[in-house]
Amino acid sequence: MSVVAFPQNITTTKFAEIMRTSTESNQSPEYDNLKAKLLDRSALIGVIGLGYVGLPLAMTFNTAGFKVQGFEKSPQKVDFLNDGVSYIQDVPTADVAKFVKKEFFSASVNFSKLKDCDVVVICVPTPLAKSQDPDMSYIISALESIEQNFRKGQLIVLESTTYPGTTREVMLTRLEAAGLEQMGKKFECGKDFFLAFSPERVDPGNPKFNTFNTPKVVGGVTEACGDLACIFYSQVLEKIVRVSSPESAEMVKLLENTFRAVNIGLVNEVAIMCEKLGIDTWEVIEAASSKPFGFMPFYPGPGLGGHCIPIDPSYLSWKLRTLDYTARFIELANNINSSMPAFCVEKVAHTLNADRKAVNGSKVLVMGVAYKKDIDDLRESPSIDIIHLLKERGAQVHYYDPFIPEIAYEGIEMKSATWSEKLGAEYDIVVIATDHSGVDYAALLKNSKRIVDTRNVLKNFKSEKISKI
Ligand SMILES: NC(=O)c1ccc[n+]([C@@H]2O[C@H](COP(=O)([O-])OP(=O)(O)OC[C@H]3O[C@@H](n4cnc5c(N)ncnc54)[C@H](O)[C@@H]3O)[C@@H](O)[C@H]2O)c1
Repeated sequence: MSVVAFPQNITTTKFAEIMRTSTESNQSPEYDNLKAKLLDRSALIGVIGLGYVGLPLAMTFNTAGFKVQGFEKSPQKVDFLNDGVSYIQDVPTADVAKFVKKEFFSASVNFSKLKDCDVVVICVPTPLAKSQDPDMSYIISALESIEQNFRKGQLIVLESTTYPGTTREVMLTRLEAAGLEQMGKKFECGKDFFLAFSPERVDPGNPKFNTFNTPKVVGGVTEACGDLACIFYSQVLEKIVRVSSPESAEMVKLLENTFRAVNIGLVNEVAIMCEKLGIDTWEVIEAASSKPFGFMPFYPGPGLGGHCIPIDPSYLSWKLRTLDYTARFIELANNINSSMPAFCVEKVAHTLNADRKAVNGSKVLVMGVAYKKDIDDLRESPSIDIIHLLKERGAQVHYYDPFIPEIAYEGIEMKSATWSEKLGAEYDIVVIATDHSGVDYAALLKNSKRIVDTRNVLKNFKSEKISKI
């Protein structure tokens, strides 16, 4: 994450653009109080879940002059952060060290400090359960911590990706009940406390777009909630896009990720069709991209990875199933995308066959196990599926990844091979699964017997040794 200088005051025009209701004193004292604290940046910001989303967000608020209290389940992560060390690639250790030293940032496993926070942002994981249904346990656990420390005047914002309805159906109902328990009187949302949804759009490893310059969508439960959430984010982010409800904001995120999953599914199917037709998929996509309107290129690959694209659309299709509707595009895209690792392994088998070799007993090097280039994140990586499938067929599999020195994930425990120009020569076949920059692909090609290139990283080389998907 690049550190940027923040404007000390947002302009009147910017304010007018995002405010829906009057900013005059027709609001509750809690509203006026929090607004004043946000504008003079004396509000204490609590962030629950200090991972890929929460930690950059915390640093962004620190950079703008806010004090941030982080809350994290993992004591190990808390120790790292309080020692001034970052474990997130996009967050420099120097930033964490600087803000810890200035006493602008600290992390804790003690959630009672939530009571001191004026704003609480929830950035916990939203994975799928084994049944492929949403696993809401992390959101519920964060919510329980808030409930136990809830007080009047707080703004709670959910950033974790989830199905439309979560903020109102799950969060609002429980927070109102928590207020009743604490004060003996129902807390009114929009007056006594404030609640909004604002999806995170961070793209790890993206050198151009970070938390600061990626527009932020915000939807409040009431107009006052939306106002305060917009004021909150506009203190630190370049552009706020306000929508009319948390449901719209929840759906925005799912549309974005479903759009990607469906288009990747389409182009993966195009790759399967081109294989059958003997046509070069990549050439077709490149030529189609010359159309200056009405076409946007997506690229095939070994399958979807990461915490968002393979998972988030299933939150939407689950919700629709509860309404007796089948989200057909999502189901089809899931089906095609999840078949890609097997397609790649078939390509390996086919390529080895040309050399009269079987997968069983062959030595295979998987180049890249991160789910996308130049990052160190393994989550949902299709490389893991490829390794499993190759091993099941009897291959001796090794991997090389400059960002991931070892794997202990989903039943695989391996250490990365050491890079040398001759690395490829030790294997019957190499599968390029992640197109990390900085790898000497010319040397790899020169010394390898066969290469299956799932990312078209060898597009500038011509060789009989290369098989593309
Ligand atoms: N990583 C991305 O690129 C990305 C992008 C956009 C949106 N999102 C969404 O943001 C959310 C967070 O994702 P992430 O990638 O930051 O996850 P992450 O796993 O990197 O971080 C989540 C952190 O929350 C902690 N945690 C879990 N339960 C907790 C609890 N009850 N209290 C305190 N801490 C808790 C975990 O220990 C972990 O450190 C998810 O909903 C995800 O879908 C992620």
